Amino acid sequence: MAPRNPPRAISRRSVVLAGTALALAGGRAASVGAAAAQGGGVRPYTIRFSHVVAEDTPKGLAALRFQALVQERSGGRIGVAIYPEGRLYGDHDEMQALQLGAVEILAPSLSKFGRIGFAEFELFDLPFLFPDVASVRRITQGPLGQRMLARLQRQRLVGLGFMDNGFKHMSANRPLLTPGHFVGQRMRIQASRVLDAQMRALHAQPVTLPFSETRRALALGVVNGTENPISNFWTQGMHTVQSHLSLTQHGYLGYAVVTSQRFLSALAAPDRTLVREAMREAMAFANQIADAQNDNALAALRAYGGTRILVPSAQDMVQLRAAVQSVHQGLAKRIGPQWLQDARDALKNAG
Ligand code: LMR
Repeated sequence: MAPRNPPRAISRRSVVLAGTALALAGGRAASVGAAAAQGGGVRPYTIRFSHVVAEDTPKGLAALRFQALVQERSGGRIGVAIYPEGRLYGDHDEMQALQLGAVEILAPSLSKFGRIGFAEFELFDLPFLFPDVASVRRITQGPLGQRMLARLQRQRLVGLGFMDNGFKHMSANRPLLTPGHFVGQRMRIQASRVLDAQMRALHAQPVTLPFSETRRALALGVVNGTENPISNFWTQGMHTVQSHLSLTQHGYLGYAVVTSQRFLSALAAPDRTLVREAMREAMAFANQIADAQNDNALAALRAYGGTRILVPSAQDMVQLRAAVQSVHQGLAKRIGPQWLQDARDALKNAG
């Protein structure tokens, strides 16, 4: 599993070009859907799948699996163009691009749905809610997860399913094992109010930044630390700019795969089934390999030797949990207590 090279600097020009592409995309996207529909299942077309991580991650590998399945099962008639590492769209513009039809498939982390009006997705960000991935699946693969995906219809999005990355750990240029270690640290977070509250509860200063800018911001000292599953930490090369990784396993990071109603409904029925089925298998594949990807990244990080890997003591964990407990009540107030109650019931009933 290769760490990626330091990211390209994002030039003003490329931002302008991306903006232009987005503006032009409405027309072009309709044409992807129209080609699919008019062809009645015989005309070739290409599905664009944009994501922000490296290819050698659970999400990156799931995208490749989807590509292979679709191309094989359609006899090469349906192509899948994958744009990894935020090369086409990043955290700021990918949802808009999907709604405008500039791209057909995204797999944003669950933390990124709150800011577009689906605050209930932020329950996945709650610190220490899930003891393990099996418990996350009780929600993502159960009725509560289906209810959440169904809500995406309000914005003419279709949730195709959930997939895992794994549990996040804290990194910085110092240990982050107890609440006292966080005081004054500027911590990069995803755009989630729960993550913001989590960092504030630890007396750190949260800074929301797109994923593609995180490594550079760490290198420049714009932020001091961040939280990531190890597969993201390693493949983004964050280990070259963070001296300590504290294995806090305090929160989950997973994805919802989304497409637009406009695209899906334009497909001929057999193509729609083919796409849905291929994605179902790709997501199951990601869930199978996610743990191993994170374990391999940890092994690579240990072999690299330049980042100190710290394990919190049981006492440290008690303190961390206590410090962030108020974040749960904060979210319950914001989205209504029923969502959290339903999540807790799902965890309990299957436990
Ligand atoms: C992040 O922004 O940290 C993650 O959402 C990146 C990802 O997609 O795993």
